[in-house]
Amino acid sequence: MMNTTTAGQETASASVPLITVDGPSGSGKGLLSAKLARHTGWQVLDSGALYRLVALSALQAELSLDDEAGLERISLNLDASFSPGDDGIDVCLHGEPVAQKLRHEDVGAMASKVAAMGVVRAALLQRQRDYWQLPGLIADGRDMGTVVFPQAKLKVFLTASAEERARRRYNQLMAKGENVNFSGLLREIEARDERDQNRALAPLKPADDAILIDSTANSPEQVFAQVCQLLVEKQLFTENV
Ligand code: C5P
Repeated sequence: MMNTTTAGQETASASVPLITVDGPSGSGKGLLSAKLARHTGWQVLDSGALYRLVALSALQAELSLDDEAGLERISLNLDASFSPGDDGIDVCLHGEPVAQKLRHEDVGAMASKVAAMGVVRAALLQRQRDYWQLPGLIADGRDMGTVVFPQAKLKVFLTASAEERARRRYNQLMAKGENVNFSGLLREIEARDERDQNRALAPLKPADDAILIDSTANSPEQVFAQVCQLLVEKQLFTENV
């Protein structure tokens, strides 16, 4: 059921369960969100992928960042769907899997530029809220608990040290046979944290009522078990792991 606020924004009924999972890149949000979605059977939203999809479409259409109307049109017409995968959230655009393409470095760099634009963030706001439907939603991003779903009853802010996040990325890339440089990865992660935390619009920061979880020394399974316990404590989901 949908309610309409006086501001004209539609919000899903408060009875539909919702968890927000925010944090910096590489903290393990995608894996945690996918595990939670599989455990609960709820929908999952990868909001970072929406910004990456806008970036990918803009690159393919050779749109410049000055073309605000073009970027707004792309943002308003994204037909994206998400499902829990083995190592994170799987993304489809018009039913076609696109997760591989979204991971390209040029798409990531463009995503961080379009994510700083008010016109794109405004166009994606209601689209993100539309994913809040029965039987529930796990929303993964940077501003899920602060801007998009401030009413969520459980907000997780997942962090890990920059060194640990760089090490995880390094191991992933090495396992794929890619030639990578650890200190270069660490510098990229630190630069991205800096941009995400200091931008004017929806900067990366924990909501006042978020629960901070540091995954530096914990395995994905330990973090998952901790959040499942919180779900039970908050009476959002009754089955524990
Ligand atoms: O999480 P991911 O790396 O896929 O995010 C891609 C880009 O989208 C990043 O630059 C991030 O800052 C931005 N983003 C955002 N708000 C979100 C999710 C991601 O600005 N809720």
